[in-house]
Amino acid sequence: MDLYSDLDSIVPDYRRFLGITEGDLTVLLSIWPHIAPELDDVLVAFHDRTSLIDGLGDYTYAERSALIDKQKRNITMLFTSRLGEDYVRSTMRMAISYRVRDLPFGWYIAGSAVFSELIRAKILGAAGLDNALKFQAQEAVLKLVALDTALAASAYNAALLD
Ligand code: HEM
Repeated sequence: MDLYSDLDSIVPDYRRFLGITEGDLTVLLSIWPHIAPELDDVLVAFHDRTSLIDGLGDYTYAERSALIDKQKRNITMLFTSRLGEDYVRSTMRMAISYRVRDLPFGWYIAGSAVFSELIRAKILGAAGLDNALKFQAQEAVLKLVALDTALAASAYNAALLD
């Protein structure tokens, strides 16, 4: 089964359902230079949170810094690639690697909520952005993280059935 072509076709439906507009993608692109330098901070805080849960940190402990690099690449694609093919393929690969490792998908859903909270706090605190733009960017982050979670869930489920 060609997972990519099967799942790529659901991205426009998720996009329509979540109301992700070209304006949302443009807003995220425009604030990205303010957020990109904060990603290391966000991801270290994210992994510190993961390590608070018994057993969960074991999944990431040995490979934390390599994982942070992979996460940065994927997150940058999510927010700047206008949901292009590289981003979609990368998210599917990630979801399939969770299946291979028996990482319960609920942790990706919960992890995405934590990640979204950390990124939105950085947007709120960014210097040199006006409040209207910050508000739009925070809304756009919520929608894109929801799409990302939905796409990853679809790949995870498809890998289960394959
Ligand atoms: C508690 C939640 C999470 C746990 C325990 C977890 C754990 C892991 C593990 C064990 C891997 C495999 C490491 C590897 O392939 O080298 C991985 C890969 C990855 N994770 Fe997570 N993760 C979580 C949430 C997230 C979230 C919220 C994101 C995005 C914001 C994310 C993005 C990625 C990416 C991009 C990869 C690399 C996949 C690849 O291309 O190989 N993870 N994660």
